[in-house]
Amino acid sequence: MKKNIFITGSTDGIGKITALNLAKKGHRIYIHGRNSKKVNLTIEEIKTLTENENIFGFTTDFSNLTEVKELAKIVNNTIDHIDVLINNAGVFKAAAKNNNDLDLRFTVNYLAPFIFTNSIVSTLKKAATPRVINLSSAAQSVVDLEVLRGINEVSLQESYAQSKLALTMWSSQFAEKHKDIITLAVNPGSLLNTKMVKEAYGNHWSSADKGANILTELALSENVAELSGSYFDNDRGNFSRAHNDAYDQQKVENLIRTTEELLASII
Ligand SMILES: NC(=O)c1ccc[n+]([C@@H]2O[C@H](COP(=O)([O-])OP(=O)(O)OC[C@H]3O[C@@H](n4cnc5c(N)ncnc54)[C@H](OP(=O)(O)O)[C@@H]3O)[C@@H](O)[C@H]2O)c1
Repeated sequence: MKKNIFITGSTDGIGKITALNLAKKGHRIYIHGRNSKKVNLTIEEIKTLTENENIFGFTTDFSNLTEVKELAKIVNNTIDHIDVLINNAGVFKAAAKNNNDLDLRFTVNYLAPFIFTNSIVSTLKKAATPRVINLSSAAQSVVDLEVLRGINEVSLQESYAQSKLALTMWSSQFAEKHKDIITLAVNPGSLLNTKMVKEAYGNHWSSADKGANILTELALSENVAELSGSYFDNDRGNFSRAHNDAYDQQKVENLIRTTEELLASII
C-alpha cells in the first residue's frame, strides 16, 4: 500500500536520501526544509530520478517555534493523513541561540519536533497504522533543564547530546501516551558522511546511505508494531538500550512538564 510520508529536514543528508529511497518505492513524499529554493530543487530532483510525481514540499525554519506551529496548522488543513512522520531535521554546529533566546540545538532537535508532532496527532491518527520515527544519536547526555530553558549555556557538543537525549526521552513518553502510533527513536549510525558531520568534524566513519537505509527500513517494516517506544541503534544494527534516563519515569515526567511550561510561555 502506498503511504503518505513526511520527512523533516529532507533537503540534505540522510533525510534527502531517505526521501529518494521511499519515492522510488512509489510512496507520496512530503519534503521539508528551511530554504524554499532547496525544497523546490529537492522535489524536482526526486521527481526526475524516480518518475514519481507525488512529491510535495513545505518550507519552515525549525529554529522559529511559532513557524513550526503554523506549519502544523497548514499540514492539518492540507494533508488527508500521514502514515509515517520522520522527525529528521537537526543541527549541530550553528548559531548559539534562536529568536526566543533558547539554545538552537534544543530548539531544532527537540522542541520543534515535539511541537510539530503533538500538533499533527489528529492527522497521524487518520492513518491506518501511523508511525513516528525520531532521529536520536549515540551522543546522549543528561538533560540540564536550565539549558533547555535557555538559562545555562554549555558547549555545542553538550547541548547537541542533551537535545538528543531529550528527544529520546520524549519518544518513549509519546509511545506510552499514543498506543495507536508506533513510535521509534533511532540512532542512524555515528559520523555518517553528511553536511552536519563535515561541518562538525571534517571526516566521517560511514556513508550517509547507512543512515538512510535504516530509516527507509524502519519507515516501512511490518515487524516493529510490538516495539513502539524502543530505540534502534544502527551502530550495533539492532534494537538496543538508550541512555538510562530514557527509562526513568520521574525524569521523563519532569522533562515533559518543563517543556510544556516553557512552550506555553513563548508560543
Ligand atoms: N550524520 C550523522 O552521523 C548523524 C548521527 C546521528 C544522528 N544524526 C541525526 O540525523 C539527522 C539528519 O542529520 P544529517 O547528518 O543528515 O544532517 P544534514 O546533512 O545537515 O541535514 C540536516 C537537514 O535538516 C535541515 N535543517 C537544519 N536546520 C534546520 C532548521 N532550522 N529548520 C528546518 N530544517 C533544518 C537541513 O536543511 P538545509 O538543507 O537547509 O541545511 C537538512 O535538510 C539529524 O537529526 C542528526 O542529528 C546524524
